Amino acid sequence: MPLLPLVPLPASVEAPDAVPFRIDASTVIEGEADATAALSAVVATRTGLTPNPTAGDRTVVFRLAPGGAAESYRITVDEASVTATAPDRAGLFYAAQTLGQLITRDGDGWMIPAVTLEDAPRFAYRGVMLDVARHFHPLETVKAFVDRAAALKLNVLHLHLSDDQGWRVQLASRPRLTEVASSGAVGGDPGGFYTKADYAEIVAYAASRHMTVVPEFDMPGHTHAVGLAYPELAEDPVLSTHIEEIASTYGGELPTPGVAYTGMAVGFSSLKTRDEATYDFVADVFGELAGMTPGPYLHFGGDESLATEDEDFGVFVDRVSRIIADLGKTPIAWHEAGSRTIDDSTVGQYWGFVVPTGGMDDKARAFVRNGARVILSPADAVYLDMKYDDDAQIGLTWANGPTSIERAYAWEPSAVIDGIDESDILGVEAPLWTETVRTLADIDLLAFPRIAAAAEAAWSPADGRDWASFRERIGGLAPLWEAQGIGFWRSPQIDWSAG
Ligand code: ACM
Repeated sequence: MPLLPLVPLPASVEAPDAVPFRIDASTVIEGEADATAALSAVVATRTGLTPNPTAGDRTVVFRLAPGGAAESYRITVDEASVTATAPDRAGLFYAAQTLGQLITRDGDGWMIPAVTLEDAPRFAYRGVMLDVARHFHPLETVKAFVDRAAALKLNVLHLHLSDDQGWRVQLASRPRLTEVASSGAVGGDPGGFYTKADYAEIVAYAASRHMTVVPEFDMPGHTHAVGLAYPELAEDPVLSTHIEEIASTYGGELPTPGVAYTGMAVGFSSLKTRDEATYDFVADVFGELAGMTPGPYLHFGGDESLATEDEDFGVFVDRVSRIIADLGKTPIAWHEAGSRTIDDSTVGQYWGFVVPTGGMDDKARAFVRNGARVILSPADAVYLDMKYDDDAQIGLTWANGPTSIERAYAWEPSAVIDGIDESDILGVEAPLWTETVRTLADIDLLAFPRIAAAAEAAWSPADGRDWASFRERIGGLAPLWEAQGIGFWRSPQIDWSAG
């Protein structure tokens, strides 16, 4: 019997050989509103049916019921009914996503197979990141990305809101950031920014899909755009052989003070970390961001600050982490900020390789020694912007060459960094950097199916994870993804179901 196309793999599934639950126009879907809406949407998209009866003989019910871990749920499907229970609304929403994946063609009609299923997440933080700085992505694209991620039980949308190429969110305290420094993008493509109302809309839309927005302003490096708006805060670009190589390989100008940067190099910009005016800026932008962001985390970047003196970098990350903690938020920083004095609530985000190199694991361990936890984003497994293979039209290859779907899948979070065990891991996040990514179609092609591999690393129990099983289960999701208009990469490694 083929495996049920469930991704991420649930904690336990029993599928008796029993009569399935038929779905047709008289099926009733009722109970908690979010889950009901989520399943009704998948039914409509997948089957073309819009069941909306108030009474019928076959009912799907979503009901809150105490007991079980946060975000967990249980489902029982038999011929007469589907019952989903959960201790919270997120759990019911995930039950709806699971049921959506189970909808199957049955002759001329549709059904959900008989199952008993219990499920709960392995990690509390299950993220995706969208870089809206290298290329700006409009509101509708962000919402589409949220829908795609939430359907895989991911619950964090990390937005990389600033980089050398542009600043992407409007702030009343520092209006020139978007007035002056938002119009560019990589390759000279059009930029853009979110108004405060747009940002509020993203936060609300994500919340309606049980996703928390984690906003990032990256500093002290990755700040050329800040220097366009407020030249007094930025050092002049530091040109290294790396920058010159990138310019000659990929084209584009060398970074120049006061001129929008449209290339792909990193590590040339820095805020003036010795000036008090810089800390006034940090307090303004994170203070305003804190007020706009209901979630608990603010990310301040801290990666690749190659143009900042080492000692100054230490002073900077210490002060910024404390400014954020004093705002009542939990700071997050990329792993480079570890091993510095830093507010001890700061969560580290590891972006080294699955087999750590260059002491990056030491920097990640420092967050744990401080008493905080770590988010794992091993670049050669879960960086969604890497090419799948050498023939790919878009994507990069610096993370150990192309990342096949199998490599994206075949890693174990608790085995990446010695001394960082299950309880030290807050979760897993799959970043999508957008140097080569312009459209939703580009996002789909790079993210799918590898985002599903990351979701399974974040959600499913370690002992059930298996490449052969995953390969078969994602193959079975092709009809759902097609119906949802997701332009996934049809890897020849996968037997994609036609049905
Ligand atoms: C990163 O990839 N620089 C976090």
